[in-house]
Amino acid sequence: MFNRLCVIGVGLIGGSIARAARQHGLSKSVVGYGRQQDIHNLETAKRLGVIDEFYLQIEDAVKGADCVVIATPVASIESIFALLEPFWSEHTIYTDVGSTKGSVVSAAQRVFGVVPDNLVLAHPIAGAERSGVEASVDDLFLNKRLIITPLSNTRTEAMHKIQCFWEWCGSLVSVMDVKHHDAVLAATSHLPHILAFALVDMLGHKDEKSEIFKYAASGFRDFTRIASSDPTMWRDICSANKNEIIPLIQQTREQLDKIQCLLENEDSQQLFAIFAYANTARQRFLNQFEGNMSKSITFQVQPGGTLQGEARVPGDKSMSHRSVMLGSLAEGVTHVKGFLEAEDALATLQAFRDMGVEIEGPVNGCLTIHGVGKHGLKAPKNELYLGNSGTSMRLLSGLLAGQSFNSVLTGDKSLSGRPMKRVTEPLVAMGAEIKTTEKGTAPLYITGKAGQLKGIDYVMPMASAQVKSCLLLAGMYAEGETSVTEPAPTRDHTERMLSGFCYPVKKQGSKVTITAKGDLKATDIDVPSDISSAAFFLVGASIAPGSDLLLKHVGINPTRTGVIDILRLMGANIEVLNERVVGGEPVADLHVVYSPLKGIDIPEELVPLAIDEFPVLFVAAACAKGQTRLSGAEELRVKESDRIQVMADGLQILGVDAQPTVDGMIIQGGTIGGGVVTSHGDHRIAMSFSIAGLRANAPITILDCANVNTSFPEFKDLVKQLGLALVCEES
Ligand code: S3P
Repeated sequence: MFNRLCVIGVGLIGGSIARAARQHGLSKSVVGYGRQQDIHNLETAKRLGVIDEFYLQIEDAVKGADCVVIATPVASIESIFALLEPFWSEHTIYTDVGSTKGSVVSAAQRVFGVVPDNLVLAHPIAGAERSGVEASVDDLFLNKRLIITPLSNTRTEAMHKIQCFWEWCGSLVSVMDVKHHDAVLAATSHLPHILAFALVDMLGHKDEKSEIFKYAASGFRDFTRIASSDPTMWRDICSANKNEIIPLIQQTREQLDKIQCLLENEDSQQLFAIFAYANTARQRFLNQFEGNMSKSITFQVQPGGTLQGEARVPGDKSMSHRSVMLGSLAEGVTHVKGFLEAEDALATLQAFRDMGVEIEGPVNGCLTIHGVGKHGLKAPKNELYLGNSGTSMRLLSGLLAGQSFNSVLTGDKSLSGRPMKRVTEPLVAMGAEIKTTEKGTAPLYITGKAGQLKGIDYVMPMASAQVKSCLLLAGMYAEGETSVTEPAPTRDHTERMLSGFCYPVKKQGSKVTITAKGDLKATDIDVPSDISSAAFFLVGASIAPGSDLLLKHVGINPTRTGVIDILRLMGANIEVLNERVVGGEPVADLHVVYSPLKGIDIPEELVPLAIDEFPVLFVAAACAKGQTRLSGAEELRVKESDRIQVMADGLQILGVDAQPTVDGMIIQGGTIGGGVVTSHGDHRIAMSFSIAGLRANAPITILDCANVNTSFPEFKDLVKQLGLALVCEES
């Protein structure tokens, strides 16, 4: 990329740039510049092989360099520009690493009159508390963000070259303007440093006997780690960006005053609301922005085992989503029990908090939702990030189409690839305005059309509870009747819960109708255990000889029990005990005992009633005697992954004869072997292959299992407790 890269200031950052450039072969030679007093550091840099040569005269250092990186502290950049000015070359690209950009622009203007067009301002968001070239490393910038802040006159090809350079070093490059950069960094970096320095300064002066530090726990260490950073550098950064920082300090002071007031008034509810918001917001940010950098999780499963005992699997995901949605829109306070504390349902919960709904919890599966009424949602300040959750995105698109504000719905990589036209097309027919990508995928840009939606009579081309629910929610804001006819019965939790909240919905055969006439009255909801999570244990106990398991309080809504019907057709021994109705939903305890299974042709009418359970049913089929055939299940191709292809691939790796078809699979039951399979980030695939371990004859390694947390975070512990040798490894 370059013949001669000149690094001005060969410290932690400059040294790491030189190392990364060498490691990736980005420059034929790398030279350094420093002042006389830096000679020791420069000699070390040369001895360590970080640079080829160093110079104490700037003229010698930059001679013949096609790229010059200024890696000195922000306060010194003006003097470096002044040194460079007589030797400034048209044929060289100059760039910097300063963590404030407005100050660099001003420095360049003072020295050059205008900022030169071959100066590309950049900021790698990476660092360490240690400084000097000895602390430099090859991979300081790997997977770290880097912001380029071009000016209107910056040469495009120079900017592209710097962008490529950083991408080769492993950075994730973003481009933004100078002012925006400085505002973002003031909030995310400069203010936290000030708070850490201020706290340690305050406590240090107060604490003459060093008591606080002696007893400091890891929370204090984590919070104040950045107060170990170089004080000179941070003095300079904070001074350089003071215009952005001062208003933030003022806001922080107001927030602390608010918390002080809440404590004085013993307002624990409001205090909790602030902490709970912060807690979930942080988790959401981590999932959203660090998801691709976060630890990957692998399940290692030893073959064999039996499932024995009693268990209660977590709350139903579909009902958990809906409890938050309808509870938020209700008049009054709704209490929810059994809420699923997993990423998908929490994404919905966060979205409603972002729209101004006060929700306490979850604490042990309990939520208290302070409903804002049907027209009480507020415009979210930012896009609503829905992680991996298709249900959140599809249902919310209907609800938000008829609001008086605009909104943007985003999701993770899997959700951003899933089809959304199935909801946007009928919504547009109702008068909604929603922009998607060309492929009809998220992000969804929704223009609120309050008072402008019109009811439609929609015949769904596919059996989808998400599409049906989306249109019913939109219908609550539409003129006239909104009707949805389904080609086959799908889960009816939305209809049941609407009735539970006293909102009128009419059902005639396969058609459901709703209008805008009605209000939701707060109620109490008891969410039963999720039959889709219980399914892993129903199959596990059915295939592992010696198993005997009781699954308590499982939701057995007839639109969800396809898995029981299919397993029974295959010869499974499942008893439904203690049937009762809880909060409008049928619930029972399920007793399952090992029984040899046989292959069957799965009746197509059961497909929508077991739509989420096919990955684990394929495992049952692999253990059954004879052939199992599934058809009419093309919907499986557009779930969190292409569940037909991904399961067929994995089963084949394990030695099973599994042939994918356009709309299903043909599986020849036999022996399950060992091997390494990947879940493609799909929670249900990861759990299904874990269950396969019960009948495998060798260990199974399942890659990419982090998303089990979207629906069943307790899975790995519960399955171990009941008898499967599963180890969860993080890397
Ligand atoms: C769901 C409906 C189903 C299901 C999903 C949850 C719901 O999706 O697969 O896990 O809560 O409405 P489709 O409506 O796309 O079939």
